[in-house]
Amino acid sequence: MIFPKLMKFTIFALLFGIIHCSSVCPDGYAMVLDKCLMAIKNPMTHSQAETACTYTGGTLVNIKSAIENRAVSQFASNSGINQTWIGLFCFDNKNPSKCFYDDYSGTSALYDNFASGYPMVDGIYGGCVYTSTSGSLAGRWVSVKCEAESMPFICEMPISTYDASCPHNYNDFCYLKSSEMPIATGKFGDALKICEAQNGSLVSIHSKREIDYIKSLYRDQTSIRTILIGAQLVLPNLYSWTDGSNFESFDYRDPLSSASNNDNKCLFMDISSGLWSSGTCDYIGSSFLCKIPLSVVPTPQSEILSESNPSDFSKCNTTFLMAPGEFTSYGYLSTDPAEPPVYCTWKIVTTGAYKMRLFFTDVNTYNPIYVYAENGNEIERVRYSSSSVISRSNIVNVAFQASGRPGYTGFKAVVLAY
Ligand SMILES: *[C@@H]1O[C@H](CO)[C@@H](O)[C@H](O)[C@H]1NC(C)=O
Ligand SMILES: *[C@@H]1O[C@H](CO)[C@@H](O)[C@H](O)[C@H]1NC(C)=O
Ligand SMILES: *[C@@H]1O[C@H](CO)[C@@H](O)[C@H](O)[C@H]1NC(C)=O
Repeated sequence: MIFPKLMKFTIFALLFGIIHCSSVCPDGYAMVLDKCLMAIKNPMTHSQAETACTYTGGTLVNIKSAIENRAVSQFASNSGINQTWIGLFCFDNKNPSKCFYDDYSGTSALYDNFASGYPMVDGIYGGCVYTSTSGSLAGRWVSVKCEAESMPFICEMPISTYDASCPHNYNDFCYLKSSEMPIATGKFGDALKICEAQNGSLVSIHSKREIDYIKSLYRDQTSIRTILIGAQLVLPNLYSWTDGSNFESFDYRDPLSSASNNDNKCLFMDISSGLWSSGTCDYIGSSFLCKIPLSVVPTPQSEILSESNPSDFSKCNTTFLMAPGEFTSYGYLSTDPAEPPVYCTWKIVTTGAYKMRLFFTDVNTYNPIYVYAENGNEIERVRYSSSSVISRSNIVNVAFQASGRPGYTGFKAVVLAY
């Protein structure tokens, strides 16, 4: 019978059509395989290119397979560019497992297409990676100094689920700003009810990219400085997200903001820095942000753990501390100094997309703490608590010589992606 066959085909075509149309990319981006890409022809240095991509919550293009490598090359040459930065930063010579993707999605240990002899990070070479679409090295990856070259590049954003009624669609969630709703502000309980009526919850935030995306939603809105987010204090210093997602995996609380007291059980995000601080849940003037799942909730990205020894809290002489993280002076909080006085250095790194902000939450030292840029130039001598220092690149070095004098308890620092 021909008819049922035709029916089947029609149903199949219909389903296929629905699946195809149900995915969407942000304006200016094209769908390539399972991601959204945009070529930018203006040549820029690596950090300028990263800044341009992260401005809206994206990142430089990632390449995780030979199929993607070909598709990205093809997309680049179709877009009229012959080179692109890749969102990958290498910390070691000829060791693709020490090249980290900018979105914290892991290393290039499983797939890479480095030209022979690369990655090479020492001397005239560097940790930033690019690929060309023409010439003898077409499709091959090469590492160079990040700031020495300018070239065109490709940004990447996650594909999202299409929803005609969604004003701000990102990574399978719809974001609704209270300032665009009939009730623009409210206290925590009321705001949560409004979000739940939309089948969502108050926003939960799980990556630096999501922070960047949310910042972009408020960039033109100078009247709003903080927004209420969906975190609630359940025990002293322990928060949970109202949508039930995991709070532990990503924490962007301002390490320098005062500890929450009993009245401050809610968190607010500063929309210029992205940092979270505690405040009262009962303030009726809070702007808030709802987040509504558009399809199956994606599994949270795994975090990269630092390589330091978990029994040594100071992480003294760490050569590869991956931010976010914490470190302290050797024997921190002890008033009885170690003999002889201990000298420590810390090399702190993050993925190439970000700089870092070092928050010195507690400083009680005789000598200052030296913070150096990647090239060895001194950025700052830290002497006081509540100072913060912003790195110049994704690598920063810290050095501290204990004085051996009694009565000084040392220092503690927290590092976050900036
Ligand atoms: C790409 O094009 C630019 C300008 O047309 C040229 O200067 C550069 O050498 C080309 N790069 C490669 C790898 O072919
Ligand atoms: C919420 O979900 C229910 C049940 O699926 C649906 O009937 C309702 O229209 C949804 N509300 C909104 C605002 O989407
Ligand atoms: C850290 O390294 C420095 C220089 O190599 C060394 O002098 C110091 O003793 C080391 N500190 C510790 C606690 O191992």
